[in-house]
Amino acid sequence: MSKMTNYKMHDGMKQKVLVTGGTGYIGSHTVVELQAAGYEVVVVDNLSNSNADVIDNIEKVSGIRPAFEKVDCLDYAGLESVFAKHGGFQAIIHFAASKAVGESVQKPLLYYRNNIVSLINLLELMPKYGVGGIVFSSSCTVYGQPDELPVTEDAPIKKAESPYGNTKQINEEIIRDTVASGAPINAILLRYFNPIGAHPTALLGELPNGVPQNLVPYLTQTAIGIREKLSVFGDDYNTPDGSCVRDFINVVDLAKAHVVAIDRILRGGQKEKVEVFNIGTGKGVSVLELIHAFEKATGVKLNYQIVGRRAGDIEKVWANPERANTELGWKAGTSLEDTLLSAWNWQLKLRERGIQ
Ligand code: NAD
Ligand code: WQD
Repeated sequence: MSKMTNYKMHDGMKQKVLVTGGTGYIGSHTVVELQAAGYEVVVVDNLSNSNADVIDNIEKVSGIRPAFEKVDCLDYAGLESVFAKHGGFQAIIHFAASKAVGESVQKPLLYYRNNIVSLINLLELMPKYGVGGIVFSSSCTVYGQPDELPVTEDAPIKKAESPYGNTKQINEEIIRDTVASGAPINAILLRYFNPIGAHPTALLGELPNGVPQNLVPYLTQTAIGIREKLSVFGDDYNTPDGSCVRDFINVVDLAKAHVVAIDRILRGGQKEKVEVFNIGTGKGVSVLELIHAFEKATGVKLNYQIVGRRAGDIEKVWANPERANTELGWKAGTSLEDTLLSAWNWQLKLRERGIQ
């Protein structure tokens, strides 16, 4: 079911994008959206938090098998061989990173090395191979608890709550400093809010490693009976129902933001060489509201209980996505109910496949 009617062409060739972390949760969804938009994609992943069979599922969704290189972004020589072998990347989307907040507190050096050295390797290779564009996975975590909501891109960066969060702040600075030094690089930093859900085909989704730390994977695992009960961490926050408030963004909508960001870089549409965009819905949803929306969308009753607050949680945060809406022409479109239904269908599919 190839949708490749509208090839992105460059010198008579399809424009080629390198996607690091492309077998991961957000990366895999982005690969299919890039392919649907006419890009040729090369995936690099060390499979530290994903499986090679994701490539098969990408092919099932898009009708196109992306090239795949099992390479660690920490391995400069290995990464360089990917640039040399495939050649002609017009841009990179850099997803590859370690992302577990709690683990980063236990193993800070692993996080600093993986998340920072991987980016440095890419930024060194880009000018060498004439690759002029990079889209970087940043996070709303850089804002901490914002003073004003919804939070805009101009809000101050607060001291990071975790080594993981700090790596995102440092990576943003590394990109800015590199571009400011005169490197021939254009960058777009996308600050994601809380990505949730799965592909509507249930062929791609999030595969949590061990006990999920994030709300929606824990919720769907509880609904299917893998976990006994979902703990809601606190109902005494200064929010309408006392539970924390987040901006839950559908993963396919999020994936599409990357495509428009790449389009913008490649057509020279940027206003500055480094641009930053919030990628969220603009709507705050509480943990309890999300639980009730899940029950409504799926008809499944969820076993949950209110427990104490989780250390380090932000009380409330949601995006002002106006800049992305206006400048990128991107807007989150999927309803929370459809998104939660997609997460549930993914969980059911995992059981069918005997995975979880
Ligand atoms: P993920 O773990 O599913 O995907 C990351 C992928 O990168 C995995 O497939 C992993 O195997 C790979 N990887 C990690 N280190 C690597 C290395 N050194 N070399 C090659 N591959 C490597 O995570 P995700 O949720 O898809 O997140 C993607 C990006 O988005 C990350 O940078 C993450 O920090 C960022 N982000 C995620 C969220 C979220 O809530 N999921 C929110 C904001 C930002
Ligand atoms: C959401 C809400 C919890 C689990 C994390 C990272 C952030 C970004 C996105 C990468 C919170 C509550 C959760 C549970 C619960 N990632 N919750 N019971 O903490 O907003 O953000 O992922 O950049 O950096 O910190 O996401 O899904 O863990 O939690 O009540 O079992 O759900 O307290 O209010 P979070 P989350």
